[in-house]
Amino acid sequence: MNPVIVITGGTGLIGRALTGLLVRKQYRVRILTRFPERYSGTDAVSYYAWDWTRRRIDGRVFEGATALVHLAGANIGAQRWTEDYKALIAGSRILSLAFLRDFMMQNGVAVKHFIGASAIGYYGCVTDDCQRIETDPPGTDFLARLTVRWEETSQSMQAVARRVSILRTGVVLDARQGAFPRMIRPLRWGLTSPLGSGRQWLDWIHIDDIARMYLFMLQHPLDGTFNAVSPHPVTYRRFVQIAAERMGRPCCMPPVPGVLLRWLTGPSACLALEGVPIESKKIRNAGFVFRYPQLEGALKDLLSV
Ligand SMILES: NC(=O)c1ccc[n+]([C@@H]2O[C@H](COP(=O)([O-])OP(=O)(O)OC[C@H]3O[C@@H](n4cnc5c(N)ncnc54)[C@H](OP(=O)(O)O)[C@@H]3O)[C@@H](O)[C@H]2O)c1
Repeated sequence: MNPVIVITGGTGLIGRALTGLLVRKQYRVRILTRFPERYSGTDAVSYYAWDWTRRRIDGRVFEGATALVHLAGANIGAQRWTEDYKALIAGSRILSLAFLRDFMMQNGVAVKHFIGASAIGYYGCVTDDCQRIETDPPGTDFLARLTVRWEETSQSMQAVARRVSILRTGVVLDARQGAFPRMIRPLRWGLTSPLGSGRQWLDWIHIDDIARMYLFMLQHPLDGTFNAVSPHPVTYRRFVQIAAERMGRPCCMPPVPGVLLRWLTGPSACLALEGVPIESKKIRNAGFVFRYPQLEGALKDLLSV
């Protein structure tokens, strides 16, 4: 029997890449989605309904399941952070997972492995050149506090999973979706300006590598928290330089003042304006090999699409 992997939010950016990879490796994937009617399943991929806000789920999703991967969550960069949206960002990650845990406990369901997404927002919305590792303390802002609670809830999945792993993920670079198309759009128009000081670090990871990392976790007896970022983060100014060079644009124009971005987007501007360098030695020491360790190679691939 091929192993069965349940993925919440499997319809999103990382989920789709992971599902494609798992299917190529002969896994069977069951996706928990709020909108199963939008998708047509195949032998390898099927869709099941859930609604954490009403505490409803199609419990058949767990029949014979080996592992659960939790990727669901309202997009952090999609909207202004009103109090309502902040509650949705938190609830869709934390309350949804607590609901799954409770459902599994009440129904005597257990899996061998739980893998939870987390984010490098854990380290706080700050900029300095001090490299962070997994054991460093969290920040104190909204995103950092959210991430701490998200990871604590993931750890509580030990009640229903033999092994629990957490991937503290950096900015996922994909040619068509997520942050990358937005980041390079101004460059396509010839606007090669770093955002803010340009000294903030961009802890990026190529979409293929984050999908491969989830697969690696499923294939190896690893638990604990791992930074999921490439081994070579760059400053935002360096990102613009490398991207402009690849796109044949002159670099660099004067920076876009951070205060302007903060005025336009509010507190979520910190996602683009702040960043510390993050180390991913722990996952590499565990044997994971990046396909795209350097930004130059990643951009060559992403810009050729
Ligand atoms: N992409 C990145 O750069 C990045 C970086 C760091 C961390 N992460 C984390 O990794 C996880 C996956 O990221 P992603 O980029 O693949 O996310 P995504 O593309 O935004 O997709 C996440 C999925 O979550 C589900 N979802 C959205 N709103 C929801 C809600 N209110 N309640 C329940 N489910 C909801 C959706 O599935 P349905 O519509 O099918 O229900 C959606 O497809 C997220 O937790 C994200 O925060 C991502």
